[in-house]
Amino acid sequence: LIGVPHAEAYGSRFRREAYHLIPIRVGIFAGMVFAALDPLVDSLEEYLGDAAPFLEKFWSHTEVIGRLRWVYNGNWKLWQENFRDNYHPEFTHRFVRDCYQGCLDQGANHQLSDGHGLLIMPPVPLNFEQYGVALKSASGLDIDARRNPNWDVPCLWVDDGRVDVILTIFPNLDLTYFVLGTSLALHVLHPQGVARTVVEMIQLGRRGESAEVRQWRLERSLHLHAAHGPVTADDVEALDRCRRGLQARINRPVNISRGQKPGKVGETRDEYSIRSFYAAWRRYMQVT
Ligand SMILES: [Fe+2]
Repeated sequence: LIGVPHAEAYGSRFRREAYHLIPIRVGIFAGMVFAALDPLVDSLEEYLGDAAPFLEKFWSHTEVIGRLRWVYNGNWKLWQENFRDNYHPEFTHRFVRDCYQGCLDQGANHQLSDGHGLLIMPPVPLNFEQYGVALKSASGLDIDARRNPNWDVPCLWVDDGRVDVILTIFPNLDLTYFVLGTSLALHVLHPQGVARTVVEMIQLGRRGESAEVRQWRLERSLHLHAAHGPVTADDVEALDRCRRGLQARINRPVNISRGQKPGKVGETRDEYSIRSFYAAWRRYMQVT
């Protein structure tokens, strides 16, 4: 406490030092600043656990190039479920269904340490023919999506491993690395209430790249991943419907048991990562 108007009224034993801010733990990893109010572990590296190498590999050497926020009507945990789940996209997102129809369930869904999770999969080329048919049935218009130059920017492809990655850090951070590293973004959740959450989307670019490349990243990322985009708009609607459904008092548990193989790694449509999240949440909430 650095100042008190008319402090004499509190008496001679009043000490401003006794009303200091509560210290929080702050750490830096892969160029990102993490803060914890009341951590259960001693260090940030210990907290990140086996998520740390992925954070380092895919998101270091980046910097912030754009930022925006939106609000959805739903609990903050629903957003984490969405980003740990690769079961819903082909059913929830018309864009994904039309562009990727028939794609195999390749890649893996990982339960990482202490609440973190990882989806990692080979990128699948967009099926423009199928997309055009779907657009025509929805709009009546003949649209050749292949003529949109935004869909092909091989000059940006930098990932030798040729994977798409979604890393989720407990409790409120998720990071996306899509289309061989062309779309680099992270979302930070700010709970406002039981059924209201602010999403802060931070767009990243690689250090030293041109203004033209950054402009492309911003446009593409906003198109796909901002609240109005053909993917996130569906998610926000789905979260609102989940919120309404969860209000029903039927006392029936939500099933997150997809993937019964022993261990911590399943197929991308499995729910190892979601189970990791709720195990940590129960530990922090001291739910037995
Ligand atoms: Fe989704």
